[in-house]
Amino acid sequence: MCRCKMIFILVLFGVLLFSCNVEPQKQLILGSYSRGVTTGNLTFLEDLGKQIFFDTDLSEPAGQSCSSCHDPSTGFAEPEQSLPVSEGVIAGRYGGRNAPSAAYASFIPEFNPRKTLGGQFWDGRAADLVEQAKGPFLNPVEMNNPDKAAVVAKVQAASYSALFEQEFGPNAFEDVEAAYHNIAVAIAEYEASTEVNQFSSKFDAVQAGQDHYTWQESTGKRLYETRGKCFICHPDIPGRNTLALMTNFDYRNLGLPANTEFPFNTFPPSTDLGLGVTTGKSKDDGKFKIPSLRNIALTAPYTHNGQFKTLKEMVHFLNTRDIPGEWPGPEVNRNISPSIIGDMGLSDQEEDAIVTYLMTFTDGYRR
Ligand code: HEC
Ligand code: HEC
Repeated sequence: MCRCKMIFILVLFGVLLFSCNVEPQKQLILGSYSRGVTTGNLTFLEDLGKQIFFDTDLSEPAGQSCSSCHDPSTGFAEPEQSLPVSEGVIAGRYGGRNAPSAAYASFIPEFNPRKTLGGQFWDGRAADLVEQAKGPFLNPVEMNNPDKAAVVAKVQAASYSALFEQEFGPNAFEDVEAAYHNIAVAIAEYEASTEVNQFSSKFDAVQAGQDHYTWQESTGKRLYETRGKCFICHPDIPGRNTLALMTNFDYRNLGLPANTEFPFNTFPPSTDLGLGVTTGKSKDDGKFKIPSLRNIALTAPYTHNGQFKTLKEMVHFLNTRDIPGEWPGPEVNRNISPSIIGDMGLSDQEEDAIVTYLMTFTDGYRR
């Protein structure tokens, strides 16, 4: 390479570096997350995100936070477990789907439309956690703010607004778009923190060689990995760069019946086509994301429409879906995942053993 070319590249590099220095906010919008000083176990930015995540003043009217539907005590899923779906801040307004866990969601790869893999929500319609976090504030059946400016004004009035300026610059609230984006960035950082993703279950202890399964748990594990077929979609082995997440991030139609116990005023009100709405392709109708099973014992009820109240019911459905007369027909009667599930011939005790194994996926395990 000739010397002048070399110098040109060096100068260009310097200009790029310099422009990054003078425009920290722009840099963030491009998606490179800064990491500040740590406070306790959380970094500065994770802690800021935590305060936003738990702030019940950020809805319209005040009263609902992200944590209202994603509570740490129930595995960062909906704490009100007697209903299949969540109530918004306006009483009587309900969404159409069960709230999944916000924990371990940071490990879901960005939505890949070609392979229909990954993405946030049951139908993958948000590419990643930052895009996801921009949704609930403005959703009329959730936090119900009229627009982004209203949310930004509430953060500016919050006790932690000085921290927000410390992280994102003295003019952090001037540009509504940038500020709204950075609110989502902070939340996503918290959701990706070790406080939310603990990997502290009995499963992890056994994987690390620090504990042993009971006889029933190891029977369940064997069935999970063989006749139960669970491992095909919920692999209980480490991924490329992570410990096991019990999902391969793919989409399937399990042939679930419609939930007839939805409260009034649901959205969407009719047949839920899931991934098919996101991609616009009929081959995806009725498919929903394969969820992680971490903390699954804490996050009842189960599936996107919350129709199974217990893990036992869920496993019994997978075991017996195709036995005539056992279940009502599927809500979306096409693209159904075929014979690997539906008629597994598991006994009652074998179903119980699988459930016992699933219960070892709960964080906070102490011997
Ligand atoms: C009123 C209850 C409610 C509130 C408030 C709420 N969520 Fe959710 N959340 C849900 C529901 C329901 C879904 C699933 C919706 C869907 O798939 O269409 C969901 C999905 C998610 C997901 C996707 C997880 C996955 O596996 O795909 C994440 C992450 C999440 N919410 C984080 C948040 C954050 C951050 C906030 C606050 C800005 C928030 N939620 C506020 C109910 C709520
Ligand atoms: C063909 C892939 C596949 C197989 C095999 C499979 N699952 Fe799933 N599982 C899914 C999908 C997809 C969902 C979400 C379905 C929906 O909500 O529409 C799901 C949902 C679940 C849920 C509810 C999760 C939640 O957050 O509500 C549990 C629990 C579960 N599966 C356990 C199991 C167990 C245990 C086995 C083995 C007996 C198993 N699964 C086999 C694909 C699979």
